[in-house]
Amino acid sequence: MLKEVIATRYITPLREGGSLPGLVEADDFGTYVLKFTGAGQGRKTLVAEVVCGELARRLGFRVPRLVTVDVDPVLGLGEPEQQVQELLRSSGGTNLGMDFLSGALGFDPLAFPVDSAEAGRIVWFDALVNNVDRSWRNPNLLRWRGDLWLVDHGATMIWHHNWPGAETSAGRPYDARDHALLRFRPDVTAAAAELAPLVTEDLLAEVTAEIPDAWLTGEPGFDTPDDLRRAYARPLLARAAVVHERITGIEGEQ
Ligand SMILES: Nc1ncnc2c1ncn2[C@@H]1O[C@H](COP(=O)(O)OP(=O)(O)O)[C@@H](O)[C@H]1O
Ligand SMILES: [Mg+2]
Repeated sequence: MLKEVIATRYITPLREGGSLPGLVEADDFGTYVLKFTGAGQGRKTLVAEVVCGELARRLGFRVPRLVTVDVDPVLGLGEPEQQVQELLRSSGGTNLGMDFLSGALGFDPLAFPVDSAEAGRIVWFDALVNNVDRSWRNPNLLRWRGDLWLVDHGATMIWHHNWPGAETSAGRPYDARDHALLRFRPDVTAAAAELAPLVTEDLLAEVTAEIPDAWLTGEPGFDTPDDLRRAYARPLLARAAVVHERITGIEGEQ
């Protein structure tokens, strides 16, 4: 289970992001990047963050630690900005937090070369979860203390927006044409050989168990949160074995 903390102070909005994540302080004295249930696509974005973030971590990628953050809408009362006030007001209860990597730099492909094996692993992972948000315009990669860290997995698994069509949707290819790491000649074949065997039913059960029940209840067509957890696991299990053959837009692809 993800660690649970309680937000004690809203510090500031993070301006770079489209969804207006905020920086908060919590009752454990930690500083977290907060993703609100009341923002944009709401809790599905947060579920995607948990599933992809926790899967990536278990596959050996660097991902900031995730926590759940309990928000009392009262925190918004003193906020001068109406947009922030509204976000806090509509996000009472369980939200998502991640460790704030203080001093992290946005990824710059010219200043920070990535080898083709590492690039391959990241492109393969993005193809697996169908991440459409790791383009050269908006890489969602951070450089912190000399290493590359993955953030922002909210725009993934498009199939979870339409469960009846999930199987068809999850069978589609992944277009890597705009991927931030394309210039590093990603070796997705080697990545698939290394990572695909790790994506097992047991691993996905462990990953989906991390999703808070509060974000899974009331989904049409599912009786229990665990039914929905299994629905998250299925397309990933099916894609893991074949997705490297369905990546388009990489130079030199077969
Ligand atoms: N854990 C973190 N530590 C430091 N900075 C972060 C962290 N997470 C996100 N950021 C910064 O905030 C920006 C917005 O966060 P992101 O998760 O990409 O949200 P959005 O969905 O709004 O794009 C990122 O591009 C990055 O610059
Ligand atoms: Mg982002």
